[in-house]
Amino acid sequence: MPLSDLREKIENRSAKLAVIGLGYVGLPVAALFAKKSFQVVGVDVKQGRVDLINNGFSPIEGKEPGLAELISEVVASGAFHATIDYEELNDADVVLIDVETPVNADHIPEYQALRSAVKSLSSVLKKGTLVVVESTVMPGTIRNVVLPIIEEEAGMACNKDFYLGNCPERVMPGKLLHNLRTMSRVVGGGTQETAALMADLYGIVVEAEVDTADWITAEIVKTAENTYRDVQIAFANEVALICEALGADVWRVRELVRKSPGREMLLPGAGVGGHCIPKDPWLLASSVQGISVPVRLIPIAREINSEMPNHMFNLLINQIKDLNGKRILILGYAYLSDSDDARNSPSEGLARLIKNAGANIVIHDPFIKEYSGDVIEKAKNCNAAVLMTAHSEYVSIDLKKLKQVMETPIIIDGRNLLNRKQVNDAGLELIRLGDTSRGNE
Ligand SMILES: NC(=O)c1ccc[n+]([C@@H]2O[C@H](COP(=O)([O-])OP(=O)(O)OC[C@H]3O[C@@H](n4cnc5c(N)ncnc54)[C@H](O)[C@@H]3O)[C@@H](O)[C@H]2O)c1
Repeated sequence: MPLSDLREKIENRSAKLAVIGLGYVGLPVAALFAKKSFQVVGVDVKQGRVDLINNGFSPIEGKEPGLAELISEVVASGAFHATIDYEELNDADVVLIDVETPVNADHIPEYQALRSAVKSLSSVLKKGTLVVVESTVMPGTIRNVVLPIIEEEAGMACNKDFYLGNCPERVMPGKLLHNLRTMSRVVGGGTQETAALMADLYGIVVEAEVDTADWITAEIVKTAENTYRDVQIAFANEVALICEALGADVWRVRELVRKSPGREMLLPGAGVGGHCIPKDPWLLASSVQGISVPVRLIPIAREINSEMPNHMFNLLINQIKDLNGKRILILGYAYLSDSDDARNSPSEGLARLIKNAGANIVIHDPFIKEYSGDVIEKAKNCNAAVLMTAHSEYVSIDLKKLKQVMETPIIIDGRNLLNRKQVNDAGLELIRLGDTSRGNE
């Protein structure tokens, strides 16, 4: 099918869409296109997830405005269904790929899911289909990994028998639908015509600008924007450590720095987690491995950020010298406020350190079933509480009750969520990351 025919099918909504990987990214994307009158099929390898979706439920917990309702609506209308069977993709006109793309222990891209998805797709791919990789990948992956698999396995030629592009997602848990609709996008095409068609396709769901580019540019833009964030957070964390050493308050320092034009200092914190920020800088850095480009800043920023849970542990042992036999409460296990996403959670590293020091750990997180429950109950007989995630529930935590039930009333706040005066008035001691001013505020 020539691109002009595919364009017509997209314009009149008769194009059949498929989404591979129904996680944080793929599921809302599939639901949004279904809402725009496309027939959409989603494929995942997890039968339980597929069943849940086909029963009209969202498998994503946490505050995700509008998502559960949208899934229920598009499943009920018959516009969207999920499957584990790739055969259902044999008449798809457009296929979006949204599988996970982690890095391994040596920070090298681990493409098991991506390779497997592309291989399975290639075995059923029909001629004339547009394949779009939405997953975040190391620059060069579309040309060097995805393209050869399809050409070889499907026996088809790119730009003749099928079309290939990438459109990296910019979403964030907690704002999935909002970000999908309102954030601008970059589409990379194998040719300008493919990119232009992709821009039209995404323009159906994206209310912001859709910029066209080639594959490598779109790949670099995505990994660079998350690397930028990681480096900026590392800078904020380094300033936080400097403030602690000098008896200052980084939160006040940050507020004042931001008054200088163009100095948008980001938030320091107890650690960076999630599927993206901890690995996307490595995807960018590993794209030039073996080429003589010295990548120095990116690994150092990663190191600074990944050491923040260790720093939280140090703040804890500064208060409680011997943790052996003590009981420590960790507040928040998700990496992000009001989300259930615990991938690469900074709390995991902190919990390991506390456990190794011989203490008992109690974890509370309102969005993770395993750790949910009454926070005051969990705080009983604890020697300290370490706040790792800025869940909104913790803003209104009953501080007086907390003081009553804790063995020693110490809170270590890694997110600047709690008000020092309120905490102190309730009779608790507050240790705040990046702040040794001890309340000269
Ligand atoms: N989570 C985010 O906030 C976010 C934001 C922007 C970009 N991204 C990128 O989007 C991609 C997906 O991330 P995610 O958070 O949605 O991951 P996820 O783990 O939530 O979802 C991936 C899904 O793909 C499925 N899957 C794996 N292999 C498969 C296969 N061979 N066939 C079919 N399904 C398969 C998994 O079972 C899972 O449900 C990643 O590249 C990530 O870097 C994520």
